[in-house]
Amino acid sequence: MPIVPTQDIVDRAFEDRYGVAAINVVNDLTMAAVLAAAQELRAPLIVQTSVKTVEAMGVNVLYALWAELAEGVSVPVALHLDHCPDRDLITACLEAGWNSVLFDGSKLSVEENQRQCVEVVEQAREYGALVEGEIEPFARVEDLAGDAPPPELSLETALAFIEATGVDVFAPAIGNAHGMYRAAPTLDNKRVTEIVEAAGIPVALHGGTGMSAAQFSDLIARGCAKVNISTALKIRFMASGYDYMSANPGKYDPPSLFRAQTKAVEEMAAEHIRMFGSAGKAWVS
Ligand code: 13P
Repeated sequence: MPIVPTQDIVDRAFEDRYGVAAINVVNDLTMAAVLAAAQELRAPLIVQTSVKTVEAMGVNVLYALWAELAEGVSVPVALHLDHCPDRDLITACLEAGWNSVLFDGSKLSVEENQRQCVEVVEQAREYGALVEGEIEPFARVEDLAGDAPPPELSLETALAFIEATGVDVFAPAIGNAHGMYRAAPTLDNKRVTEIVEAAGIPVALHGGTGMSAAQFSDLIARGCAKVNISTALKIRFMASGYDYMSANPGKYDPPSLFRAQTKAVEEMAAEHIRMFGSAGKAWVS
């Protein structure tokens, strides 16, 4: 069975200090493409779904698609719900079979975030699911004032939240943001080391698109076992469609277009899997 608990995937990566690509997909084509890349490279993979994608496709349709496509690979894979503040949607996804969730209480006070996150962890345990937590909202690159990184809360606040909630993975702000950086971001890599050393849990690296290979390997060595990529997939998926239509004017043949997009997304996923050191790390479960 290729679908495994997210905890198994993350634990091994954390222990051996490689990064597992956690890639946000937007539909059936992109889900199949990232799974194909993992299969080809014998890599474990986390497939992520945003709230928007779950709402657009519907929990049951999306899960049925996942179950069917994951059945076709022999590497360990897991399904994760990215940034979700909606407790009802978390419940629906856990019930359907998602392997992990990021409870996003970052817009709440830390106290209220913590109170609700405790409940999410308790609920997720019933399903054998992993919970990722966060206390600082991640900005979108385009919303940042100049190149100022979003603010970080104190290390004590982060550690107290991790301890009180029992989250399995923590997603700290380290100067990262979602979207395509205008310039290489300056990252607070020491914060990763401080959290990992004090809390002993893996860190999820958000805002992966546009970071350099050197930044990835440094952060992964410090304990970023889960590395999130979303914007790179959206760009590759849409740009490859545009390129295909520009190169083939008047060719209105969806299967040919879809083949070109699948290949482009698969290559994007493979590049990241290789860069994160998880190629060849699949185990037989
Ligand atoms: P990017 O869109 O910058 O790759 O960030 C992905 C992410 O962190 C999803 O939660």
